[in-house]
Amino acid sequence: MSAPLLWCVVPAAGRGTRVGGDCPKQYLPLGGRPLIEHTLERLATHPQIAGLLVTLGATDVHWSGMTTLHGKPILTAVGGAERSDSVLAGLNALPDSVGADDFVLVHDAARPCVRLADISKLIGLASTVDGGLLGAPLRDTLKRADTTGRSGLTEPRDQRWRAFTPQMFRRGPLSAALRDAARRGVNPGDEAMAMEQAGFAPLLVEGAEDNIKVTTAADFALAEFLLARTA
Ligand code: CTP
Ligand code: MG
Repeated sequence: MSAPLLWCVVPAAGRGTRVGGDCPKQYLPLGGRPLIEHTLERLATHPQIAGLLVTLGATDVHWSGMTTLHGKPILTAVGGAERSDSVLAGLNALPDSVGADDFVLVHDAARPCVRLADISKLIGLASTVDGGLLGAPLRDTLKRADTTGRSGLTEPRDQRWRAFTPQMFRRGPLSAALRDAARRGVNPGDEAMAMEQAGFAPLLVEGAEDNIKVTTAADFALAEFLLARTA
């Protein structure tokens, strides 16, 4: 049986305001190379990924212009104001060869440490249902803060998961779910939320917790440490 080949949409049109650098975080150096290059490198290395569609900011002057990586095509499209707009723009710009029933992956440019084995696990499990996402069950005790920053309540931890990427859904239903959310004025934080609201039940696939989203300046040192130890 030949392995299924999927395209991956990589939203990279954010501004990285929480990092606060002088350019968007995806272009800041991580171990001597722009953060996004580590992410693209990892994705292009995966044998079941056919090509990458990277969504860029409308005024992006930092993109390298690469068109292939490890022999796989790299396409670009202009993203939007919210992450979900960027993902939808990426889905719209996929090649015609990607059918409405074909699965696609979506993976944040800001998650360079994703493990190849976890991508394989997601593809293997989520393709047997209508899609899913990498995540991990919550480990810490969860507190609800009151307005003065004091612990007002301990929330139940059972059945609570943190959501990561990649997330994997069929191109047509995911596009429809994101379009519908936009029409309703909802900004889904991830693809799974849009799919939940469209009546799907995305499969939660447990992945390594070191698949961090580089979010603050301090995360660069942690990501550099993790990159050297994961594959
Ligand atoms: N993203 C995007 N388009 C947007 C916003 C975000 O493509 N309008 C991308 C980011 O580039 C990133 C991923 O979505 O790869 C996850 O978003 P996040 O970590 O929130 O990145 P930023 O939005 O850039 O950061 P911040 O929220 O701190 O501004
Ligand atoms: Mg953001």
